[in-house]
Amino acid sequence: MLNKKAWLLTTNEDHTATLTFDCPNASVNTLSRAVMDELDQIIQTIEKQVPTALMLCSGKKAGFIAGADIHDFTNIIDQDAAFAYMRRAQQVFDRLAALPCRTIAMIDGFCLGGGLELALACDYRIASDAAHTRLGFPEVHLGIHPGFGGSVRACALIGGLKALPIMLTGRQLSARQAKRLGLLDVLTPSRHLWRAASALAIQGLPPRSRWRGLSNAPWLRPIIAGFLRRKTAQKVHLAHYPAPFALLDLWQQHGNGGERMFIAEARSVASLVIGGTVKELIRAFFLREQLKTLGKSHAFSFTRIHVIGAGVMGGDIAAWCALRGFHVTLQDQSPDRIAPAIGRAHGLFVKRLKKDTAIAAAMDRLQPDIKGYGIAHADVIIEAVFEDLTVKQTLFRQIEAQAPHHAILASNTSSIPLQQIASVLQEPERLIGLHFFNPVAKMPLIEVVYAKNRDAIAVGHAMAVAHALGKLPLPVASQPGFLVNRILMPYLMQAMLMVEEGVAVSNIDNAATDWGMPIGPLMLADQVGLDVCLHVATVLSEHIGGEIPKVLQKYVQAARLGKKTGQGFYSYPLSKRFSLFVRGEKTPLSKADIRDRLVFSMLNESVACVHEGIIENADFCDAGMIFASGYAPFRGGPMQVIAHYGVAACMNRLSQLETYGTTFKAHAGWDSLVTKEDQHAAA
Ligand code: NAI
Repeated sequence: MLNKKAWLLTTNEDHTATLTFDCPNASVNTLSRAVMDELDQIIQTIEKQVPTALMLCSGKKAGFIAGADIHDFTNIIDQDAAFAYMRRAQQVFDRLAALPCRTIAMIDGFCLGGGLELALACDYRIASDAAHTRLGFPEVHLGIHPGFGGSVRACALIGGLKALPIMLTGRQLSARQAKRLGLLDVLTPSRHLWRAASALAIQGLPPRSRWRGLSNAPWLRPIIAGFLRRKTAQKVHLAHYPAPFALLDLWQQHGNGGERMFIAEARSVASLVIGGTVKELIRAFFLREQLKTLGKSHAFSFTRIHVIGAGVMGGDIAAWCALRGFHVTLQDQSPDRIAPAIGRAHGLFVKRLKKDTAIAAAMDRLQPDIKGYGIAHADVIIEAVFEDLTVKQTLFRQIEAQAPHHAILASNTSSIPLQQIASVLQEPERLIGLHFFNPVAKMPLIEVVYAKNRDAIAVGHAMAVAHALGKLPLPVASQPGFLVNRILMPYLMQAMLMVEEGVAVSNIDNAATDWGMPIGPLMLADQVGLDVCLHVATVLSEHIGGEIPKVLQKYVQAARLGKKTGQGFYSYPLSKRFSLFVRGEKTPLSKADIRDRLVFSMLNESVACVHEGIIENADFCDAGMIFASGYAPFRGGPMQVIAHYGVAACMNRLSQLETYGTTFKAHAGWDSLVTKEDQHAAA
């Protein structure tokens, strides 16, 4: 039980009551078992002395309720326990729903997952129309669907046709969108929330239209569910992410609501909770929190950022920084090199900010700066010019001479060890790597690269910068390719070697996506740029060996650089039927070999990175791969895949794959994994 109470019941002069939720020792409200037990007790008290109306609100500045306490899921041992857990929560919310007085959820800030399920158990939901008010069911991101009665109540309230897409995608709605859909009854400015809720408590609202649940009709449900199932299958595999499909089955079978649907909902979530996908997605959630904490634990106050190089990366980094509220100067060799970046930035601002005033303000924060005047005033300087050691060295010599002494000097290099670039500096320890991933707006991670002679303060400041930019910082040692590219490059090279051997591009990319990667290696290479790939591969092959495919060299020589030039392994813009440079030849390889050449090239390199200390531990290696490359999160990252398959089985498969080249020669690090596994078994 909690020592300090999470719920505070107060009686108002007009005989209404207010129930304030304020989780002790936490910045946000979450629904843990203890919190639910306490709520149950309070509702029992209310049942004995019923007020005219009950208003539920949050005592936190940061929103209403963030959802269920995810730690609780990690303690669930089997399906029965999971079912009991869901049923218990459902019964507490049922009790709230059954109170004989009007119940009103007052929402200001986020109201997510279990929080929205609780709000739906109230008679009315009133919310502030502020931008920070967000409603949604993010459960699907953890591999489950609402299980505290939320799917039953949401479908009953607004019909499955409107409610299911919110649960299937996990997307968050603004207060206006939620009101339009019917999830909210009243919208009001924050300052009127109390007054409006009190009025609602006394007057209530006219009954809702009976037509809103029309899509739940038994004859419509199979048609709608079938349509949504097909749409969902275009995005995720049933075998990898069963939750959305389970939700559709639940609704199709029991969508008319009632007790049977509640029980079926609990049963469905219980069977998902004990599955591997949920375990890995919850682990990924905690890894994300761990990296966030790393960023939060350092402080560096800054407002001005200067970015040099307005290409694919520099342009997008500058746009992202301006979007996050910083003043940005963007330097390149000529205005025509900067113009496309400004155009892309405008597109990003329109998409993310929507309001004209906010878009104009963001555009004002992003200034082209051909002469590099911004360097002298910047707090953070990020270099993103060509991947060329001499170009970078020349530039940093100038930067060091002009930059304020407190400024962070950062390179976005994807492969060149920092110590090589910094060797020309007066204070080489100042240089750190802030390695963003492509596309910048989508990829949540930044590798914070540090050299051996690092200035610990500079590294801490760089982590704080990554955090302030809304990204997850991952500290990695400055070795060629750092962590993510070091692991990805052998995988991309294997894919290209297979193209040379005559395997169809689509077979290779499909093998990767079927396994769970977000896009195939050849499409990824096209996105990154084949010139960048060749450069990184060259740097890496000098360090770790490995063959550079001739097809890559040939394409780069022909200026066929991928998406940015309109042609690479694919033609751009992509038509629905991708046009491939290597078309459907007979695949000389089995599907399993294609898949394992891709998968095991990454596993072997991951073991090497952990063993060589490029990354602090195996968990961080997994986090890096999931958040920077989209590595199948439901598989938990490469080191988790090894733990799952077993070290001996992996080594065995590697030795079979050695016929395809030295990439598959087991790295020395596997031996220490064998020892660890033995020790684990003995314990
Ligand atoms: P890019 O070729 O698209 O752009 C480079 C830009 O730098 C060009 O616009 C060029 O005019 C400019 N430039 C070159 N020398 C300059 C100088 N002395 N002063 C001012 N501007 C100069 O290259 P991209 O792809 O943006 O890569 C930039 C850096 O980011 C490289 O170090 C690359 O390794 C790294 N990177 C690239 C990723 C990718 O996916 N393309 C991902 C992560 C890092």
